Amino acid sequence: MSNVDYDSLIPNNVGLAADRRLQRALERWHPNFIDWWKTMGPDGFQDLEVYLRTAIGVDPEGWARFGYVKMPDYRWGILLAPQEENRRIAFGRHKGEPVWQEVPGEYRAMLRRLVVIQGDTEPASVEQQRFLGHTAPSLYDMRNVFQVNVEEGRHLWAMVYLLHKYFGRDGREEAEDLLVRRSGDRDKPRILGAFNEKTPDWLSFFMFTTFTDRDGKMQLESLAQSGFDPLARTTRFMLTEEGHHMFVGRTGVERVVRRTCEVMRGNGIADPADIEKVRGLGVIDLPTMQKKINFHYSVTLDLFGAEISTNASNAYNASLKGRFRETTIDDDHQLHNSTYPVLKHLDGKLVSIDEPAINAVNSRLCDDFITDCEQVLATWNKAIADNGYAYRLSLPSRAFNRAVGEFSDVHAAPDGQLLAQADWEQRREEWLPDNDDLEFLLSLMEQVTEPGRFAHWIAPPRAGINGKPGDFEYVKIAA
Ligand SMILES: [Fe+2]
Ligand SMILES: [Fe+2]
Repeated sequence: MSNVDYDSLIPNNVGLAADRRLQRALERWHPNFIDWWKTMGPDGFQDLEVYLRTAIGVDPEGWARFGYVKMPDYRWGILLAPQEENRRIAFGRHKGEPVWQEVPGEYRAMLRRLVVIQGDTEPASVEQQRFLGHTAPSLYDMRNVFQVNVEEGRHLWAMVYLLHKYFGRDGREEAEDLLVRRSGDRDKPRILGAFNEKTPDWLSFFMFTTFTDRDGKMQLESLAQSGFDPLARTTRFMLTEEGHHMFVGRTGVERVVRRTCEVMRGNGIADPADIEKVRGLGVIDLPTMQKKINFHYSVTLDLFGAEISTNASNAYNASLKGRFRETTIDDDHQLHNSTYPVLKHLDGKLVSIDEPAINAVNSRLCDDFITDCEQVLATWNKAIADNGYAYRLSLPSRAFNRAVGEFSDVHAAPDGQLLAQADWEQRREEWLPDNDDLEFLLSLMEQVTEPGRFAHWIAPPRAGINGKPGDFEYVKIAA
């Protein structure tokens, strides 16, 4: 089963050739996908050769191949991680039972919803990043956004495969709708808020891939625990690719931070908060980066849903969606009598309250996400410290700028202090990017296409992709 059939129209390791009905259904979906890709994928770069990674197997040692590809010719495949023999369900009501190879009838609707929500985020981010090629600060970066985009396209394929194979007519309709909704569209928006925001500049892209792709990782990790084995195997392989997306984000911001600090130092600027002076040197000031962190992080926290959630508790009880690294947690994996501390607001203060753990599954996943983010922030702050500056970037309070959950009806400063509405309105532009900030970021964006050269505001990466040298031509612009 895990041998990849690479000769057919849709590369796969799921034995597609033996399932004619499914194969025909996916082959009918294929041209619609290509249409979507050509109209909503990277604008203006469809005919260029791009040095891309393609998944050709699921062996951790050798799953990828690198080479020049025109994006519409990318081999989007259906690849599931190898089946674990005798795998048993690790959590929830069905803990200890053999995993399911078919959808249990009672959970059909819940499971379909989980697949559709995950599936919807994949094409959404491609749509959000559609114009970034025009302002790529180097060929290296241009290639990276295209790499992220084709892989999100493959993740869409992964979810569409599940819908077609396991959910009958409803599944086929959902698969079609995944190509109909559009990020930011008034009438047919994508399902989740963060996926309808704009990604107009490269700092936004690096923040998005740092925070929002990292939410993706957490969701995929939870689905990788699923008792529904095809979903677990699909998401496990998606995680392999996801690592690169977060790498692009983390190192992207780090390169911007490093460049800013080097330029400040070279020009004798002692105070990083002297925004006008720093901007005058053509680099992005650290306070603006902090505002961008505040925005992308808070919008991403909303993706975790309400802290106390019946949906999440139902999905956990049904053994459909587990916790981060479920099997390494030392408890009963059913959460019958345990509690979990959840941050709430009470009498104008933020307090931690013990809630039944089964209701707090989202909150816990959010905590795991925050731990991950703290590590990323530490690498950015190291770049600042290495340059001798005392300034530090930080994550805002989880109560800051929230539209979903416990804190959606209060206002809080980044340090967690609760504010009256009027104070919030007055001060929000201290903490969130305003139009001037966004226009400044856009004013720096310029396309750089000479191999080995980088825009002024960003440092080169420490190493090339797949060991390539610094002046490698990642995208063949001059054909
Ligand atoms: Fe993805
Ligand atoms: Fe991703």
